[in-house]
Amino acid sequence: MSVKLTPHELSLVGKATGLWEKQGMLPSRDDLRLHLKCRENSAGRILNHLKTISSTVSTEELRDFDVAAKKFRELISKKDKPASPPKQSAGSDKVYAVFSDLHAPHFDLDLVSRAVREAKRRGATRAVMPGDLFDCFGFSRFAKFEHVPIQDELAAGTLFLQMLSENFEKVDVIPGNHDDRVKKYFAKFVPPEFMFLVRWNLIDIVSADMPNVNQPIISADGRDVPFLWRSGDLVLGHPETSSKVLIKPVDSFANWLVEWRNILNFDEVKVVGQGHTHRAGGPVMRPDGIAVFELGCLCRLPDYAFDPKLRFHPQQNAYSIFVQRDGKTDLNESRLFFL
Ligand SMILES: [Fe+2]
Ligand SMILES: [Fe+2]
Repeated sequence: MSVKLTPHELSLVGKATGLWEKQGMLPSRDDLRLHLKCRENSAGRILNHLKTISSTVSTEELRDFDVAAKKFRELISKKDKPASPPKQSAGSDKVYAVFSDLHAPHFDLDLVSRAVREAKRRGATRAVMPGDLFDCFGFSRFAKFEHVPIQDELAAGTLFLQMLSENFEKVDVIPGNHDDRVKKYFAKFVPPEFMFLVRWNLIDIVSADMPNVNQPIISADGRDVPFLWRSGDLVLGHPETSSKVLIKPVDSFANWLVEWRNILNFDEVKVVGQGHTHRAGGPVMRPDGIAVFELGCLCRLPDYAFDPKLRFHPQQNAYSIFVQRDGKTDLNESRLFFL
């Protein structure tokens, strides 16, 4: 049912309702309220962040989301002295910064801001998020002992994607198992013929008005393989495998890619990176010449970290940089950076 909105309310309708607007539908009051709450939370988070790093910004001028976001952007792109600038050769064509497993809102804004600033200083012009941007805590099928409002997730995820969208030419996001929780949740209640109405994830919603943010989908033999991302000889992914042994999951992932390479139409795979494990390691060179990385994470410890069944291993906060020339990844300049 459409609703009549005041011009002021309409002016505030943006990201969260972008998709509905594109489809010619006005948002409901509840949708609007959710979006406004999202903006309030974003402003609150920005304000708290600014307070911790700057004493020169007055609280008053940051009451408005757009003013706060502008201040935050200025701080993010503030030019610091380069820590160790990359060697830029004439042939360098793509420098990717990879930020995995944010699990919004369970990330620390200082940490992710630092990762973005450092990656830019190291020459990254493109960003890739190989899964679990959102935690989708409320959609989890597991018992929940706390309440994490979906508005907080939307606010934190929007803020991070905005940060990437404004700092990199191109931002690719692939969904992880946590991002997929939304459609899995709806699939339990919605008959298959109506699934097309709800088969979106939160990334679709928050990136609706960010033209340089994409969810590239790889397909093979008529089927989508959304957990994969590829550029030249580099493949990143969010396969849901884990192990007590570091590198073992990504080694299995590389084996799987070799097995399916022809069907996936991946002519050359030389470097493979995996999200999901929250652990960081590599490059490890396999006997077949494929270098593998586990990409770490940028989130805080999850609520199940100290599970008495001892199933969780300490995670590592890290991001990575991959330098490519003519589709070939240069391993001398590609590496993980621990935070
Ligand atoms: Fe994850
Ligand atoms: Fe995951």
